[in-house]
Amino acid sequence: MKTKAAVVHEPGKRIEIEELDLDGPQAGEVLIRYLYAGLCHSDLHVVTGDLEARMPMVMGHEGAGIVEEIGPGVTRVAPGDHVVCSFIPNCGTCRYCATGRQSICDMGAAILVGYLPGERFPFTGPGGQYGGMCMLGTFSQYGVIHQNSAVKVDDDLPLDKAVLVGCGVPTGWGSAVYTAGVAPGDTVAVFGIGGIGINAVQGARYAGAKNVVAIDPLENKREKAMELGATHAFATADEALAAITEMTRGQGADSAILTVGLMTAEVVGAGFNAVGKDGVVVLTGLNKLLEPTIQLPGTILTVFRKTVKGSLFGDCNPTYDIPKLLGLYQAGDLKLDEIITRTYTLDQVNEGYDDLLAGKNVRGVVVHEH
Ligand SMILES: NC(=O)c1ccc[n+]([C@@H]2O[C@H](COP(=O)([O-])OP(=O)(O)OC[C@H]3O[C@@H](n4cnc5c(N)ncnc54)[C@H](O)[C@@H]3O)[C@@H](O)[C@H]2O)c1
Ligand SMILES: [Zn+2]
Ligand SMILES: [Zn+2]
Repeated sequence: MKTKAAVVHEPGKRIEIEELDLDGPQAGEVLIRYLYAGLCHSDLHVVTGDLEARMPMVMGHEGAGIVEEIGPGVTRVAPGDHVVCSFIPNCGTCRYCATGRQSICDMGAAILVGYLPGERFPFTGPGGQYGGMCMLGTFSQYGVIHQNSAVKVDDDLPLDKAVLVGCGVPTGWGSAVYTAGVAPGDTVAVFGIGGIGINAVQGARYAGAKNVVAIDPLENKREKAMELGATHAFATADEALAAITEMTRGQGADSAILTVGLMTAEVVGAGFNAVGKDGVVVLTGLNKLLEPTIQLPGTILTVFRKTVKGSLFGDCNPTYDIPKLLGLYQAGDLKLDEIITRTYTLDQVNEGYDDLLAGKNVRGVVVHEH
């Protein structure tokens, strides 16, 4: 079948809209009609070349849609099922899945290559074989994905909101709740309030933090953070550090969650300085794979017993956390409607990323037309 998709052919070039051929689902695979796709900064890292990926690549890794067809041996979903895609698949049996660490499932090794198991590329077109970002490629009207990337959700959930639970929500919420281990009464600093950071704010608040300090140079982001659970918001790390020192009587924050668009040694240093003894610094935002974004005084780390941790997918287990977070949404404990700033058509995807870079959106969402 044919599908219209947003593709990147070369790093540094704009995303192009192309008509591609899509193969039917083979063993273990499903054909999905994508309805919605979120605009996450990680796609932009691939477009700019900060994250090196195989090209051409169908972009988009936050997606929700309806299963149209299943290949042989598929048991996790059935035709007609509503699904949220998980940007890292989970096989269920590798050592990480088997021990409750699905976010680092071995199947995730191919997310920047974009093929399915068996080096299979369901998308083909003028550029040859096209990968799908994170083995998905949600900026396409249709996709063929592995069943391990699909999480069935209740039919009555609005997929235009649930789509955010494919990346931004679990990544941010889990960075606070799981990676930082936020506890009641904690003081938490969140650096960078985009689609990821706003959910770190929501997670920290839900976990019972006393002080949730949001740091972002943009006023619209600080306002949104205050609306969704931050207790304080500052434009700069220096202002935040002064306030944290005062509100903790000199002890420092319990955790700093770094969700800025492009991670730098400066931001990591600010997070490191914001936490006190036994404090945890969580690195969620990305940069080039080999960029030295950590330049810290190790002896301070030792004598203050600080911890610096990476967080992928918020350390979530998608088959457990995606339905759980959607349950919190239905109960009103997690806000999704409020964090979608704007919607776009697929043809407007470059405009969507221009808006993200200009800081206009907390999260933008592509609404597919069929
Ligand atoms: N680890 C993971 O599993 C994972 C998953 C998804 C996204 N990410 C990464 O997380 C990061 C955030 O993604 P997003 O979609 O929320 O991006 P975004 O661009 O929507 O938001 C980033 C925010 O950071 C702010 N910011 C930039 N520099 C800052 C600074 N020095 N101090 C404070 N705030 C600053 C921006 O104003 C913006 O509001 C990206 O690097 C993305 O690739 C990581
Ligand atoms: Zn993402
Ligand atoms: Zn696994």
